Amino acid sequence: MHSKNLHTMKINKKAVKTFWDQQAKKSNYLRPEGISNLEENEELLEKKIGLETKKIFSWIGNLSNKTVLDLGAGTGQWSLKFAKSAKSVIAVEFSKGMQDLAISEAKKQKINNIKYELCAAESFFIDEEIDIIWISGLLCYLHDEDCENLLSNCKKMISKNGRLILREPIGLQERFEIREVYSEALKTKYSNTYRTSEEYFELFARHDFKKMRDEDMFDKGSDLNKWSETRLRIFEFQV
Ligand SMILES: C[S@@+](CC[C@H](N)C(=O)[O-])C[C@H]1O[C@@H](n2cnc3c(N)ncnc32)[C@H](O)[C@@H]1O
Repeated sequence: MHSKNLHTMKINKKAVKTFWDQQAKKSNYLRPEGISNLEENEELLEKKIGLETKKIFSWIGNLSNKTVLDLGAGTGQWSLKFAKSAKSVIAVEFSKGMQDLAISEAKKQKINNIKYELCAAESFFIDEEIDIIWISGLLCYLHDEDCENLLSNCKKMISKNGRLILREPIGLQERFEIREVYSEALKTKYSNTYRTSEEYFELFARHDFKKMRDEDMFDKGSDLNKWSETRLRIFEFQV
């Protein structure tokens, strides 16, 4: 993996948005989950979706009568699945290309309890009590200050017994910052921040979220753990 632990370089938000707008254009040959996951290998993608869906639903629990907020919803791979049993879902996304794919997929699947908001996740606020806040593969594209703003808003929106489930790639030993590095696999420049689990615990603790549990998404030795320095991890926080 091309990575640097510089710690200080701001992520270029405009470049991140452009990256995802471009990624959305792959819909002529890649399905929505492949676009959001940056995975073009159909076999690996199928395996990833299967394993993740099983784990995520066991963590999320029963969604009936619950409102879900999906921040950085992408092509809606999780919003759509949650909407099938939740009361309603709010899907927040800042790339119009990605959001359009999510909307058209919902239409195809005749799902009509998802409200779409086109805006930066860190500025999103609604004066409603949310039962489940779902954040997946978003914070790795946000600068630290934006993570603070996002968490501050989440604290205000989450209901008293609400839960926040986070699914993010993490740096195992240390934080890695990739800034506009050319990726051969993606054929474009790419930025990402792999924070450590401890950094996430501290971030959430600053906003009074208690960590309930956390776990690697995939088993040790899985071919879905692509880099030795990073892991996809799932966390549950409550207020
Ligand atoms: C890796 S995809 C994850 C999509 C979805 N959450 C999932 O798990 O399938 C990251 C998404 O976050 C969106 N995103 C990145 N920064 C954002 C921001 N500041 N506000 C809203 N969306 C953002 C991107 O446009 C992209 O659709």
